[in-house]
Amino acid sequence: MTPLTGVQACVFDAYGTLFDTASAARRSADLLGDNAAPLAALWREKQLAYTWLRAAQGRHADFWQVTGDALDFALETLAIGRPGPRDRLGLRDRLMQLYLTLDPYPEVPEVLRRLRAAGLKTAILSNGTPRMLEALVAGAGLEGLFDAVLSVEQAGVYKPHPKVYQMALDALGLPAQAIAFQSSNGWDAYAASAFGMRVVWCNRSRQRPERLPGAPDREVSTLEALPALVGA
Ligand code: LAC
Repeated sequence: MTPLTGVQACVFDAYGTLFDTASAARRSADLLGDNAAPLAALWREKQLAYTWLRAAQGRHADFWQVTGDALDFALETLAIGRPGPRDRLGLRDRLMQLYLTLDPYPEVPEVLRRLRAAGLKTAILSNGTPRMLEALVAGAGLEGLFDAVLSVEQAGVYKPHPKVYQMALDALGLPAQAIAFQSSNGWDAYAASAFGMRVVWCNRSRQRPERLPGAPDREVSTLEALPALVGA
């Protein structure tokens, strides 16, 4: 793959890109059994839908609330936590706590180190609240590997609102064309591209191309290929 030229910073989506959102349910397989994977999928699907709907309605609530609301919907839909509401409460609490310490994907620490060693700036740009993102970074031992950890809370609206992508330019003091944005979420990758950033779509789950504005510049299956793509 031809490298992207002129990249001075790599900005990453958090959930699904640096951190595995399915790991919370997977680590609760002792209680969830066969429901772990369906729960993780429905939880994530509903969580994202709620962010888009709230953004369209102009009724923002932070990602901790939206994540909890989506979890409640998913637990109830899959009838998990029965027979007693008390069982469901205990499980809910555990899953929410685990969401603060999701597993990073295995290549992430080394990729960040390589990018930084090559003099590139690194940042997170995520729907997560500052507290959620701080916990994720600390839990994965990634402190000191980011120049900025940016939460949409500063913009008061979720991705893919252009205000969110603008935050990265403002924080890093760079034009969109000098920033490579990485997301595993197709819609996020396309939106960042439509905004004007260079985009590497980390298509971990082999999603089909989106029919949305934007066109990611490169597509990879893990972040391992990223340093070579940005000259690091
Ligand atoms: C985020 C979601 C979109 O981290 O994955 O912003």
